[in-house]
Amino acid sequence: MMNLSSRLKELRDLKNRIVLITGASSGIGQATAFEVARRGAIVVLVARNELKLNQVAQQCMLYSGRPAFAFALDVADADAIDKTLTKIRHEVGAVDVVINAAGFGDMEPAVDTDPEVTERMFSVNVLGLIYITRQLAGEMIDKHYGAIINIASVAAKIPTPKAAVYTATKTAVLGYSDVLRQELRPFGIQVTTVNPGPVATNFFNVADQDGDYLARVANFTVTPQLVAERLVDTIGYHVREITVPRYFAAAAVAYHLFPTMGDFVIDQLFKSRTPKHVELSNGDQSDDENGAEDNSAADTDDPTEAPE
Ligand SMILES: NC(=O)c1ccc[n+]([C@@H]2O[C@H](COP(=O)([O-])OP(=O)(O)OC[C@H]3O[C@@H](n4cnc5c(N)ncnc54)[C@H](OP(=O)(O)O)[C@@H]3O)[C@@H](O)[C@H]2O)c1
Repeated sequence: MMNLSSRLKELRDLKNRIVLITGASSGIGQATAFEVARRGAIVVLVARNELKLNQVAQQCMLYSGRPAFAFALDVADADAIDKTLTKIRHEVGAVDVVINAAGFGDMEPAVDTDPEVTERMFSVNVLGLIYITRQLAGEMIDKHYGAIINIASVAAKIPTPKAAVYTATKTAVLGYSDVLRQELRPFGIQVTTVNPGPVATNFFNVADQDGDYLARVANFTVTPQLVAERLVDTIGYHVREITVPRYFAAAAVAYHLFPTMGDFVIDQLFKSRTPKHVELSNGDQSDDENGAEDNSAADTDDPTEAPE
């Protein structure tokens, strides 16, 4: 009988392993690509921006001394996923490790979030991840070998205002990965979720254009390199999930044990937030529940300008 644990252990040495990373053109995905390349892996980089992917691939080749591959793909496009994974199978080979990092957020109050943005976020953060994982997991089952690492978020453990849809997508990633782990463990396949807290990447330029959300969490921000190192250190181990930085894991446990207290603390941190929807519909009477008092904010584009 094959020793499945020792097969997984082989992945602790990444030399010449094929590692596919989505969202590799920037941030956590890019830092992870550099980290696995430093450890000798053959990287397969996936994202939409081909130019950036090629630059990352060049750098990876310098780090690893091995080939690196770039494939432009919108992970919200299920047909394109099929075609790209077929191409990768033929041009590169069977993937040993997949790291699903492609994703984006839109830090808006729930009532202000555009349905199209909601659908797009689910297509990229959840469905794209599920479709890619499903195909590669099937190949790993045949080999009795492989690792799947999905980037979720601390947002799925400790919910905060202005992140309802994003939190919903990342909670879906956690739930999907938890079941996948149970199903794939008998085949010796690792399934790990990574829950980063705020990370200094392009993420906030996309998700939080007024900088308000980042201002609330700036003190907790870590580098993408730290996330990448912690993530890559799990490869070859049956690690359930990691949280970066670690203290957010303790905070998440505290939140789930004492949710009312947790909501109070979050309320203090995010005080003075008022949905644009409420301000506009109330006209000269802003929703004061969270301390928002400046009625003139209803005339501005910025829903978060109420004084503290
Ligand atoms: N930064 C944080 O504070 C933080 C915290 C917790 C979790 N996360 C999660 O970590 C992951 C990486 O985020 P990041 O912080 O590294 O942000 P980032 O620098 O903005 O990187 C996002 C990556 O996702 C790719 N991407 C976005 N939409 C895509 C699509 N439709 N198809 C293919 N690729 C797509 C982007 O590449 P292209 O634009 O080239 O497609 C980029 O490579 C995301 O899942 C994010 O939700 C981030």
